[in-house]
Parts: sequence; structure tokens; C-alpha cells
Amino acid sequence: MKTAIYPGSFDPVTLGHYDIIERTAKMFGRVIIGVLNNKMKSPLFSAQERVNMLKEVTANLPNVEVQSFDGLLIDFVRQNSGGIIVRGLRAITDFEYELQMAQTNRVMAPEVDTIFLTTNLKYSYLSSSIVKEIAENKGNISEFLHPSVAEMVQAKFRGQA
Ligand code: PNS
Repeated sequence: MKTAIYPGSFDPVTLGHYDIIERTAKMFGRVIIGVLNNKMKSPLFSAQERVNMLKEVTANLPNVEVQSFDGLLIDFVRQNSGGIIVRGLRAITDFEYELQMAQTNRVMAPEVDTIFLTTNLKYSYLSSSIVKEIAENKGNISEFLHPSVAEMVQAKFRGQA
């Protein structure tokens, strides 16, 4: 049973991320979503909050698990018995950074491969940062997020969470 690791910040998880998760879950026996717990960045949501929201939105996908990780992605991949890294590519602007990460990871861990899924065109413009900016300015984010996630983001900006 092949395991795919889908890593990211997911601050918050968008419908674009969900699209990649759903498609990966159809291709692999097991999918582990790795939520980066990066102490250098200051995310809107804690790693635990991001794990919880991902668990909620993927509850309908039985072969998907969610974990947080610190440190190097390749160590997380190795701890989970190898596997393949999956990343989404929205546009050519993503390509340079993604190629750099994939190549670096492959030098450090030659046994780990990265595969890319092109995002659904519907979400090719979408990013967590843009969604946060819209929410902060009281715009409507319901087109971009799962309803429960949209509620959590709005609550954060209202200062209720
Ligand atoms: O959603 P993001 O922020 O684009 O995801 C980036 C992520 C988490 C995949 C990347 O920052 C990462 O793997 N960080 C862990 C640290 C690491 O392994 N760095 C070396 C990769 S070249």
C-alpha cells in the first residue's frame, strides 16, 4: 500500500488544498497530511488548530490522516516509512520554488520522490494568504473555504478564537 505525504502550512486549508487531498486519496492507499509546525513563522492558527480543521474537512476520506511535524520534511517522510511527497502546482510562478524544494529534498533523501498535481483551474488563483487578507478586510470568503473553516477564520478576525 503506497503512502503519499501531502505537506504544507495550511493556514488555513483552502478548497484548493482539499481538491489535491481528494485526488491524492483516490490514487494512494494511504495519505498523510503533514502540517508544518514552524516556530519561525507566525501563523494565524496554531499547528493543533490546523490539524483539527484538516481532520474535520477530510472526515469523509477514510484513508487520509493528519499529523503535524517540525523540522525537515524528509525526516517526517522517513518516519512514516518512506512514501511520496505530493505538492500542488497552481501556476508557473509556483514552479521555481517547488522545483528547488523537490530537488533539495531529493539530494538529501534520494529514495523520496516528489510528484506534482496541477490544481483544479477553479482554484488556480487561490492562496491561504489571499483568503486571510480578504477575511481581515471583512470580505466574503465562503467561495474559497469549507464552511467550518470559513467560520473559524472569521472568528479569529473577530477576536473570538
Ligand atoms: O504550504 P507551504 O507553506 O507552501 O508548504 C511548505 C512546506 C511545509 C512544504 C516546506 O516549507 C517544508 O517542507 N518545510 C519543512 C522544512 C524543510 O524540510 N525544508 C527543506 C525543504 S527544501
